[in-house]
Amino acid sequence: MKAKAFENELTYRYYEETDDVEAFHEAYEDAVETVRAELGETHDLLIDGERVATDAHFEVTSPGDQTLTVGEFAAGDADDIDDAVRAASAVADEWEGFDVADRVAIFRDAAATMRDRKFELAATISLENGKNRTEAMADVDEAIDFLEFYSRECERSNGYDFDTGEPTPGQHTRNLLRPYGVFGVIAPFNFPMAIFVGMTAGALLTGNTVVAKPAESTPLIAETCMAIMQDAGLPDGVLNFVTGDGPNAGQPLVEHEDVAGVVFTGSREVGLSIRETFSEQGKHGPVIAELGGKNPVIVSDAADVDAAVEGVMKGAFSFSGQKCSATSRVYVHEGVYDEFTEALVDETEALVVGPATERETFVSPVISDAALERYESITERAAADGTVRTGGAVRTEGDLEDGRFVEPTVVTDVPHEHDLARDEHFLPFVTVHPIADLDEGIRKSNDSEYGLCAGLFSEDDAEIDRWFDEIESGMCYANRSQSATTGALVQAQPFGGWKYSGTTGKFAGGYWYLQQFMREQTQTRVE
Ligand code: NAD
Ligand code: ALA
Repeated sequence: MKAKAFENELTYRYYEETDDVEAFHEAYEDAVETVRAELGETHDLLIDGERVATDAHFEVTSPGDQTLTVGEFAAGDADDIDDAVRAASAVADEWEGFDVADRVAIFRDAAATMRDRKFELAATISLENGKNRTEAMADVDEAIDFLEFYSRECERSNGYDFDTGEPTPGQHTRNLLRPYGVFGVIAPFNFPMAIFVGMTAGALLTGNTVVAKPAESTPLIAETCMAIMQDAGLPDGVLNFVTGDGPNAGQPLVEHEDVAGVVFTGSREVGLSIRETFSEQGKHGPVIAELGGKNPVIVSDAADVDAAVEGVMKGAFSFSGQKCSATSRVYVHEGVYDEFTEALVDETEALVVGPATERETFVSPVISDAALERYESITERAAADGTVRTGGAVRTEGDLEDGRFVEPTVVTDVPHEHDLARDEHFLPFVTVHPIADLDEGIRKSNDSEYGLCAGLFSEDDAEIDRWFDEIESGMCYANRSQSATTGALVQAQPFGGWKYSGTTGKFAGGYWYLQQFMREQTQTRVE
């Protein structure tokens, strides 16, 4: 293992590749300057391989500095979606007919380009969505991992096409998975590269054509990645790109009669509404939806408390808690409750809140005015109904003046039933609750409509085994001081949730992900 680069480092491949940590910082900082100088352009849609301008545009500003215009982006609407879906439908048969090796070659090429341009891509993410440098680079790495893993899976599975032999003499049979046709890809802001690229590649590698709509706050990184995939050799019309908001661009995409399937990552509310629309329209294709979380961690009296504090602090506050996987409620055995809570408060107060591109920043800005207002509302309620142990304030001093910065916040004395401890807030906000034993911790962890990520800190193997057995969660991490409930790695830790955290139960970056994009057919030919 190489030495750790900085205190807020999680696990990033870059550090396993080099000892030269200063070179990383220099390259990132150079890229920030280059990307910053190129911001502010007007951006079009991509339909059938052509750039298409719209009359209406929306402005995106940097969450850390709202005086910095990231760009003016085309406000796509139902007519643009219709054009894009028609283009995707027109080439669906041609793309299905591509040899799987040819499809894989395109995505390997795209992965290589992303690797060559990783500093520029990370800098774009920092400026557009406010991730600090380590989080931004992890987003880039994860996108590359998705492309490479899904490409390997397509090859390993022979393009999901098997000759099943001759069941009776003269009957030749083939069993295969075939694409549905046109897929809508609807992406969230918080992994604006990895999730956008992963979902798009999943649909395309399996032979579907795509109309992709990124989150309205992060169209630039999505457009850059779309162009990399297009330039790697996708035929015109196979990947179409429409920027715009949910109601005007996302919803018409879901509702379009020729859209056979949707892959979505985002809030539970929108995910379930997409599923409902599909059901009302009587569509048979899949809605592959990865949704929210309210991720619990249990700290047992058999825990290494320092490790638990480090894990919870990183799990709750990295990228300002704006991860579906963020640790958001902690159940601590009463025997170590005071020790844990005081140490968590101390560690949290030492975190640097600041601009995403600053080297020492751990807690970077939140994405929107709505997020800022949500923070003010929940911290006011926490002060009224519980105890705010640290945090609770919006920060506006010095170079934070033009951004949306908030303090990481630790709250105690709110009951487990309180909506502060039940709803997903998507902010740097964590509640801590005492428990009498592991049973109570598991019961309260499971008492949630979500089931995405969960953590346990305990040095007792029997407790860990029981917890793995009984916890209702897709992602289960025991003693992960590195990042508690966050930071899954593609292939090694396929990512997804139970209950309302997902609709299909198959995990991104895992071995059963791609099959969801296809339908099965058995072909028997008698000769
Ligand atoms: P969001 O649901 O607000 O938006 C996601 C996307 O849906 C955006 O592109 C948006 O424009 C679009 N959209 C909004 N309304 C729509 C509609 N009516 N029809 C079609 N599309 C519509 O989510 P967000 O704020 O971008 O992301 C945060 C949410 O995503 C959190 O709930 C988080 O937990 C979840 N998330 C889940 C995972 C996971 O893997 N489970 C990963 C990342 C984020
Ligand atoms: N895959 C992301 C994580 O594990 C959401 O944190």
